[in-house]
Amino acid sequence: MYDFKFDSADKATLYRDLASALEGLVAGEPDAIANMANAAALIRDSVPGLNWVGFYRNVGGELVLGPFQGRPACIRIKFGDGVCGAAAASLQVQRVDDVHAFPGHIACDSASVSELVVPIVGADGTLIAVLDFDSPEPARFDAEDEAGCVRLAQILAKALSSS
Ligand code: SME
Repeated sequence: MYDFKFDSADKATLYRDLASALEGLVAGEPDAIANMANAAALIRDSVPGLNWVGFYRNVGGELVLGPFQGRPACIRIKFGDGVCGAAAASLQVQRVDDVHAFPGHIACDSASVSELVVPIVGADGTLIAVLDFDSPEPARFDAEDEAGCVRLAQILAKALSSS
């Protein structure tokens, strides 16, 4: 059993501790599903204010639901559709303060108000997956959250490329 303790007094500390816990969790483990499952659980357990966090994998140019924590979600998302599809198509982080104002937003959990989607890109520049964070709070994610979550995606890019 893993029992990580995080000091969430400030975001820089939280994400630094989280990055180091994630590195430890995935170290030496080649199985992508196991690593994504543990990453989703670790994030849900340590980042406050989330109602959903998880992965959509790039399966032949379509996003397919991967390991997550939260309510059951839509299974397939085309590149370009919704917030996740925008991140997949552009390979750019999408940070959305109010998903209801985002054209084409896909409502999986009606509780979600703000969303952060980070592409996980391999060394060859191709999309492996996107990591999707949803919150019931408006504008839950700021630039520090984005930087911290981009760091998590970099760790995962290495771990998921080696599987
Ligand atoms: N809201 C997302 C869909 C995924 S769920 O939030 C889990 C979107 O618009 O891409």
